[in-house]
Amino acid sequence: MPPEIDREALDRVVVIGNGKGGVGKTTVASNVAGLAAADGIKTLLIDVNGQGHVGRELGFREGPLDDGGAALHESVLWGRPLVPVRNVRPNLDVVVGGKQVGDLPADLALRFPNKPITQSLMLAVALQAVAPDYELIVIDSPPENPPLLQLCLAAGRWLAVPVKSDSGSITDGLGDISKEFALVKEFSNPDVELLGVLLFASGSNATAIHREVRTEVADVLGSDQLMFESMVRSSEAVARQARKRGVLLHELEQAAKDNPKFWQLRAGTARRDQVVSPTSASVSEDMAALTREILSRIAQREQESEMA
Ligand SMILES: Nc1ncnc2c1ncn2[C@@H]1O[C@H](COP(=O)(O)OP(=O)(O)OP(=O)(O)O)[C@@H](O)[C@H]1O
Ligand SMILES: [Mg+2]
Repeated sequence: MPPEIDREALDRVVVIGNGKGGVGKTTVASNVAGLAAADGIKTLLIDVNGQGHVGRELGFREGPLDDGGAALHESVLWGRPLVPVRNVRPNLDVVVGGKQVGDLPADLALRFPNKPITQSLMLAVALQAVAPDYELIVIDSPPENPPLLQLCLAAGRWLAVPVKSDSGSITDGLGDISKEFALVKEFSNPDVELLGVLLFASGSNATAIHREVRTEVADVLGSDQLMFESMVRSSEAVARQARKRGVLLHELEQAAKDNPKFWQLRAGTARRDQVVSPTSASVSEDMAALTREILSRIAQREQESEMA
């Protein structure tokens, strides 16, 4: 028999996922979790990724907190409570990802041969023990790894899908994740639901493109109702600066307030690469609007299901 899961304990778990790579999953997962935490919401961020990029977003990669995913691997494989790193930011705990997470599918298959449903439920098992400590749990899922993606979806209540405006990420990406989503919903987790699709790294004024994206999403999902209103505008400069410093977007925006003055640059007492792009404020505001929309949509859907 597959393990019993207390679905109520997992009712505030949001998976950020898309079958495709490089569409903003890690950026969105880290920033939404970080902003919710900064707003006083007790938040857990789980990095179910062989690359451990969440550590880069939050600035702990290859530091003492980075165990390469060893603790996550151990908890999921043996069904023991997850061991988060506490207070990576105020109110934000993180379950660290990394190389060892990549070994999970093979190791789970060895431990539970011919039991794909049990294999897919082991993150849910490890998470349910610690879930009541949190008001929000965000899972960053990996690209092109169906077994790991299934682990994430089987532990989640909600799925938010970032897409880029290139049609590959919409048709293929949404198509791929829809397949895993349907499998998990049927066999492992009937409670998982699509919360919405969001446009990531888009030109802020490209109205025609936004309209096309809505149409493409509607073609795949049957409706554009699930598009989030908010989108995250494109700025490679801001993305690079945030990752280089290991800070979230709202933290980068704060840092912009300490930008060197032009006379310091001219006098050579400050360097040009210390200057934070002023666009950080807009990208940070996009992320804040998206976070508010995600949280209010969850609250609304919760209310609707209570009334049903
Ligand atoms: N607002 C932005 N505009 C443009 N590029 C961005 C923006 N924010 C982040 N990026 C960059 O986009 C790339 C992909 O982002 P991210 O790593 O979040 O995607 P991902 O879906 O998690 O990728 P993977 O599938 O490899 O895990 C990264 O190089 C990141 O620095
Ligand atoms: Mg990622």
